[in-house]
Amino acid sequence: MAQYDSFARFYDAVNGEPEDCVSQILELIERYQPDTQSVLELGCGTGAILAGLGSSFSLTGIDLSDEMLTFARRRCPAARLIQGDITSFSLSEKFDVVVCVHDTLNHVTTFEGWTSVFANVADHLHDGGLFIFDINTLGRLRDLADMAAWVFDFDGHTLIMDVDLDSEPIATWNIRIFERQHDDSFELHHESILELGVSLDKVRDALVPYFNIVVESDTRGSLANDESARALIVAQLAKP
Ligand SMILES: C[S@@+](CC[C@H](N)C(=O)[O-])C[C@H]1O[C@@H](n2cnc3c(N)ncnc32)[C@H](O)[C@@H]1O
Repeated sequence: MAQYDSFARFYDAVNGEPEDCVSQILELIERYQPDTQSVLELGCGTGAILAGLGSSFSLTGIDLSDEMLTFARRRCPAARLIQGDITSFSLSEKFDVVVCVHDTLNHVTTFEGWTSVFANVADHLHDGGLFIFDINTLGRLRDLADMAAWVFDFDGHTLIMDVDLDSEPIATWNIRIFERQHDDSFELHHESILELGVSLDKVRDALVPYFNIVVESDTRGSLANDESARALIVAQLAKP
């Protein structure tokens, strides 16, 4: 089973609708690539972002988890959905915009993997195309590891999640879902999801061969640093 396979059917209920993230992506597209026709999402999960982007674009999503893609097919039937690895995909097509959000890049647990993603994205963008992505910073992963477990009741079930950084810079998200059964007993589903923390300096250096960075902001719109809660990066493929 791939990561997220057992979490897939609870994912949307736990995460809610990503309206703010979708609005931000649409604003960035309008500002930096207003003639966009095609969007590729890396790690599209249940298709919540693709569905939110609406019908004005031709949409493609890639994800490793077959279960997540099953939900994406229902949520976003118009999108082309492909099971694949974002570090090694190869499509015979280029896109105007590539999106990779909700710390999906952190799920690639080697820095070589991140550099493969950057090279692959560059290969799949039209000249001047946009790569919009976010990351959990090292500071954010350390803060999460210091926090108490998060407990969340939803649809009669209970999720308990904590993050440990015992193998820094790899963080482990321990996700336990107690699924309520008809007889009021609970079935336990457990996922361990790994995330790599990388300094922003290293990320910038790896982008430079292909991209010009046009936005690098924290959640409040200020310049991101390694302590920011999250870093949003918009990189534009350099024209030859
Ligand atoms: C945090 S979820 C984000 C889902 C979606 N982008 C959203 O915002 O709702 C991360 C997703 O990335 C996928 N993923 C993680 N590593 C991947 C990889 N190497 N290649 C393809 N997909 C991957 C997981 O299966 C999961 O669906």
